[in-house]
Amino acid sequence: MTQDTAAAAQFAAPPASQADPFTPPATSALWRRDFLLGAATAAYQIEGAVREDGRLPSIWDTFSATPGKVLAGDTGETACDHYHRWEADLDLLTQLHFEAYRFSIAWPRVMDEAGRPNAKGIAFYRRLLERLKEKGIRTFATLYHWDLPQHLEDRGGWLNRDTAYRFADYADLMSRELKGLVDSWMTLNEPWCSAYLGYGNGHHAPGLANGRYATQAMHHLLLGHGLAVTVLRANDPASAKGIVANVGRGTADSPSEADVRAARRFEVQHNAWILDPLLKGEYPRELFELWPGTEPLVLDGDMETIAAPLDFLGINYYFRTNVKSDGAHGFVEAPPEGVERTQMGWEVHPDGLRDLLTGFARTYDNLPPIYITENGMASDDSVRDGRVDDTQRIAFLKRHLAAVNEAMDAGVDIRGYFVWSLLDNFEWAFGYERRFGVVHVDYGTQVRTPKRSAELIARFLAQRRALDVA
Ligand code: FCB
Repeated sequence: MTQDTAAAAQFAAPPASQADPFTPPATSALWRRDFLLGAATAAYQIEGAVREDGRLPSIWDTFSATPGKVLAGDTGETACDHYHRWEADLDLLTQLHFEAYRFSIAWPRVMDEAGRPNAKGIAFYRRLLERLKEKGIRTFATLYHWDLPQHLEDRGGWLNRDTAYRFADYADLMSRELKGLVDSWMTLNEPWCSAYLGYGNGHHAPGLANGRYATQAMHHLLLGHGLAVTVLRANDPASAKGIVANVGRGTADSPSEADVRAARRFEVQHNAWILDPLLKGEYPRELFELWPGTEPLVLDGDMETIAAPLDFLGINYYFRTNVKSDGAHGFVEAPPEGVERTQMGWEVHPDGLRDLLTGFARTYDNLPPIYITENGMASDDSVRDGRVDDTQRIAFLKRHLAAVNEAMDAGVDIRGYFVWSLLDNFEWAFGYERRFGVVHVDYGTQVRTPKRSAELIARFLAQRRALDVA
């Protein structure tokens, strides 16, 4: 028995007395082998090694080094030390039977200031991808998960139109270097967070706070995406091309017209701001009623570039937001009492995921096939007697997968689901305090301990695979 099959056997046979709180019912579409189940990570959150092999500083190095920006002054300097421990981390994927891995490439690792390739940085991702291929794990690579090279921010970052073209150069280099190793490319992760949290309210790097900046940064992000899709198609035609959007469910606090409108505007601001330009080639007019005077500068042809056809759309979903009217054009949050919340304070609301997915299918007649590229939750997990009993996460994942199944039953084309995250990691402005992994990380020793949720996912996936063999 190899080490991997021994580990699988261990997960496949828990004590008979232990009821399985995870495995979906036999009728669920989640048993279909063409529905991929994977785990996701992002470079700055796990890699560490921020000054190694020619990596340049990113906006997150600068931001996290600025006092008061990240909880407890945490930074990604060491993180999960994945840059040195990647082989063991990929073995965890196999051990847990994940079928796909979504990770991100760090732009500041692979190009120098003049846009020339950094061979050492590129070699890291090539080795990683080659090993994933050897293991038979499907590869989903995100080009931009928020770590803009600082030298580009020094020239205006996403407020500077030129950054969109630099992003296309980066996509060009990566797709020439890594052609054939990436099954699915994702251009941007969550442009809403980059634009709104980064340039609109300053909670994320680079920490600017101006509404007009947010819409202009968004425009340049989406332009960069569109330019990159064209380049990826030319260089690596066999791979799939997509983008990842975080979507928000907004519900009205009362049936009053004002509250219903507030909820709709919440969703315009979170979803239509990104999805309308991508899928309809225009910004939603209501966005500028909500934020008057923030229309971005759009040049001829930009909207056509942005609306380049996609092979898939990645959806990240975490919680719903209940809102009411602010008495004017907008909304304010109206947090409900007595609901289940996670360590982040986010409300657990799986129906929101189902309702968004079915709603998008109604709204966009050209909606591409969907992957849930992130879903998961943070809990205050600790290792006791070698185990991590993350009971809240087990129920959370099961209920959200059931919601995905309901959306599939309602006719939405969903091809897979990635749990956020493989490992506990650097949770941006919350540092290491919030634990999203299905594998626990002890940051003192870098010891990894699969949580109970990971064991149950592995057991389900092993059962699913066994059906194929039978
Ligand atoms: C998403 C990010 C991801 C992670 C989760 C919790 O917004 O894409 O990196 O931080 O939230």
